[in-house]
Amino acid sequence: MYKKIQEAAEYIKSKSDIKPVIGLILGSGLGYIADEIEDPIIIDYKDIPHFPQSTVKGHAGKMVIGMLEGKPVITLKGRFHAYEGHELSKLVFPIYVFKELGVEGLVLTNAAGGVNRTYNPGDIVANTSFINFTFKNPLIGPNIDEMGPRFPSMATPIDRKWLDKIEKSAEEKKIKIQEGTYCWMLGPSYESPAEIKMLEKLEGDLVGMSTMPEIIAANHCGIKAVAFSAVTNMAAGILPQPLNHKEVMEVAERIKHKFAKVVKIAIKT
Ligand code: 6GU
Repeated sequence: MYKKIQEAAEYIKSKSDIKPVIGLILGSGLGYIADEIEDPIIIDYKDIPHFPQSTVKGHAGKMVIGMLEGKPVITLKGRFHAYEGHELSKLVFPIYVFKELGVEGLVLTNAAGGVNRTYNPGDIVANTSFINFTFKNPLIGPNIDEMGPRFPSMATPIDRKWLDKIEKSAEEKKIKIQEGTYCWMLGPSYESPAEIKMLEKLEGDLVGMSTMPEIIAANHCGIKAVAFSAVTNMAAGILPQPLNHKEVMEVAERIKHKFAKVVKIAIKT
C-alpha cells in the first residue's frame, strides 16, 4: 500500500511546484470554498494513480492545489463515503497521500444533522469528539508501517490548541462556533427517530456519514486535525415535522459565507 501512496504523491508533485502544508476536505455542498484558491492547479481524481473515484452527485471529484489565506493548501473537492461502496481502507488513501506530500494540518468539513436540541439549522459546530456507530475501521487490514503504528491512539482526535485559536479568531469576527460530539453513521439512509433518540441518550450532538474515517487516518499518521459541521437540519424525530430537502438546501446556501470564513480562519491560524 505504501508504494501506491508514493506513486500518487509523485504524480501530484509532478503537476504542482507548491508544497502543501494544509489539507482541506470539503463536504457536500461546501466545495465552493475551493473556488477561492489562488492560481489553482486542478487535478481530476481519475488521473491520480490508485486514487478512489467519487460517485456522488454534487461532489466534483477534483483535487485543487494552490494558495489560500497565504498558505499552500491541497483540497479535496468531493470526498469519499463508505455508502458509495468504497472499501474503508481506500476511503482514507488521500489522507496518506497528503502526509506523503508533507501536509501537517487537516481541516475537515461536513454537513451534519443536529441531535443536540440546543442547536439550530445553520449553526457551525466544531467536532470535538467522535463516536463510531459503523463499528468498522479504515485501518482494518495490514498496517501501513510507514504511516503509523498498528494501534494508534484516539485519545485526542482533534488538535485542541489549534481549535482554541480558531475559536478565538472566529469570536473576534463575531462568528459563533459551538462544540459537539459527531456520530459517524454508514448511511445512505438517514436515521430513524429511535436511532436518533439512542444517539441523544449516548450524548451524541451531531450525526453524519463522513469525517470520522479521515480523523482516524490523520491520528494514525500524525497529521493534526480539526473538523467543522454545518448543521443543515435537525435529525429525525428532534423536530415534530419531517426533514425537508428544500429547507436543507436553503440552510446550506444561507451559511456559505460564514462557513467559508471559519475554514479560512482555520487555514490562517
Ligand atoms: Cl439527519 N443524518 C446523517 N446520517 N447525515 C446527515 C444528516 C442526518 N443530515 C445531514 N447529514
